[in-house]
Amino acid sequence: MIRNTDAGALRAEAVDSTVTLAGWVAHRRDHGGVIFLDLRDGSGIVQCVLREDLASSANELRSEFCLRVVGEVSKRPEGNENPELPTGEVEVIVSSYDVLSTSEALPFPIDGHTDVSEERRLRYRYLDLRSADGPGSALRIRSKVTNAARRVMERHDFLEIETPYLTRSTPEGARDFLVPVRLQPGSWYALPQSPQLFKQLLMVAGMERYYQFARCFRDEDFRADRQPEFTQLDVEMSFCEQDDIIALAEDVLTTIWREVLDVEIATPFPRMTFADAMRRYGSDKPDVRFALELADLTELFARTDFKVFQAEHVGAVLVPGGGTFTRKQFDAWQEWSKSRGGKGVAYVQIGANGLPSGGIAKFLREDELQGLVAATEAAPGDAVFFQSGPKRQTLEALGALRVAVAKDRGLIPEGRWEFLWVTDAPMFEPTEGPAGEQGWTAVHHPFTRPRRADEGTLVDNPGEALAVAYDVVLNGSEIGGGSLRIHERELQEKVFGVLGLSAEEAQSKFGFLLEAFKFGPPPHGGIAFGWDRITQHITGTDSIRDVIAFPKTASGGDPLTGAPTPITPAQRREAGIDKQPSGGPFGGGPTGGGGTPIPPPNRPAGETRPDTERN
Ligand code: AMO
Repeated sequence: MIRNTDAGALRAEAVDSTVTLAGWVAHRRDHGGVIFLDLRDGSGIVQCVLREDLASSANELRSEFCLRVVGEVSKRPEGNENPELPTGEVEVIVSSYDVLSTSEALPFPIDGHTDVSEERRLRYRYLDLRSADGPGSALRIRSKVTNAARRVMERHDFLEIETPYLTRSTPEGARDFLVPVRLQPGSWYALPQSPQLFKQLLMVAGMERYYQFARCFRDEDFRADRQPEFTQLDVEMSFCEQDDIIALAEDVLTTIWREVLDVEIATPFPRMTFADAMRRYGSDKPDVRFALELADLTELFARTDFKVFQAEHVGAVLVPGGGTFTRKQFDAWQEWSKSRGGKGVAYVQIGANGLPSGGIAKFLREDELQGLVAATEAAPGDAVFFQSGPKRQTLEALGALRVAVAKDRGLIPEGRWEFLWVTDAPMFEPTEGPAGEQGWTAVHHPFTRPRRADEGTLVDNPGEALAVAYDVVLNGSEIGGGSLRIHERELQEKVFGVLGLSAEEAQSKFGFLLEAFKFGPPPHGGIAFGWDRITQHITGTDSIRDVIAFPKTASGGDPLTGAPTPITPAQRREAGIDKQPSGGPFGGGPTGGGGTPIPPPNRPAGETRPDTERN
């Protein structure tokens, strides 16, 4: 080895020993004849002292030169200790050093670079990762998180199995990234949105317990907690019930929190049905660190004269202390709503007499005013925010308002870990087809099984059927989701039917799965954890980009490599991008080969639901 000691590991016990270190010059201070170098390696920083001849030659050393240093560990003179640094009690008195490589002037100072744009930091990601207080520390923690989870999976006898990245479209509800195929011009692979179908095939294959840290590719619109390629801890299991998967998932999550954060999370996690989550919190991933439950005022306003509230659903969120909001503050809430595509926020303020005034109060009757105070439990000095309109949309708007109000009012406690299972999601939700006709789309994905009780009524009453599906939510963010699967061909075909897939389309797109289900498929189920999101929670980072070594920007670009880049006309020709498919060496499987482009279930070609995580 070029070195024998990690710089960040040096403590008082090492005093008087001779060490060889290697790392980078984080900082250099010239104290007239003595040079102090902060030497940084992957483990941390230690102060090195160069005196006399070494000090004069050390004038050549610049920030981020890569060095090897030999020296003796010494206790720092009294008063010179640095309590901020784990190595702050000691320093290394250098006897010799070698420059392993030099560095040009840096594009930005590496340590303490807060005012450098993210674009620039991503352009030089390797320098940002090298810094002692940058995203590199999140990657080190991520590795611990992954290893802790892997140990749990191995302890439960799961097999780690890889599935293809070059495959055909998988239906997770987003757009696919496509890859042209030179050997079959005009035909394309799709990068998997998840390994869903392959893990089910592995169950048919008798693998029984599968896991994989799988990269997933989804061409979705940008959000703070999304990346176009992201990682799942993907799991599938045969002969299991919902509670088996939930118990395993709780083992994975509590082990990570215990081993990485030294935090004990109580199990079992609380469970809430999808219907309750929507009704009480206006969200399928409620943040239950704070109460502020929604009030349902639909009944109260059933006979109102106020036109805006003559709607399928009227609901409210209490705004503690909102009674003192100024006009300007209310205007800001209108802007907030409109920026999210809403119609604004109706409000009243509660006066000292406990009665609502201001805002829309003048449009409401006495009994309505009293009723809303009672329903929201509003007190003098509070405000009440309202939303009205179609039920699902209004509940979601109220749910977003609830979180924004809680943030604004400082109601979200720090340092709490509120895990929650959201169960019993609907199988389907209504969509509009290309010609305005009503259809259905899967809330999870088309392979999710309905509750036994709903199997028979599925086709006649799709809107009522509930799925055996479970999402795990942490502090209002969905960190994983899964379901028991359909393993019966007939039931699977029924679900495809509800989704508007003709038998031919189902055969063409998923024939390989339906065919596999002819050969004794076991009952099975699984889950996938959003690994980047879990790491984000563990590391407390604001952005998903902080936990990924080489992430993409909001527009899907990589400032470091410059990807994506245009291709040359020669590459275009060679990849056969403009060719019509003509059948070829890969044809002839149960699905008829890679040919026919079939739109996703119930959606016209090219039109997907990029704004949702699930299908
Ligand atoms: P789902 O689509 O819910 O399920 O994905 C599972 C989890 O992956 C995370 N996630 C994302 N993380 C970062 N960027 C994204 N673009 C992104 N999209 C999703 C979320 C989510 O909970 N095949 C099913 C799983 C199953 O049924 O077993 C699936 O992929 O945390």
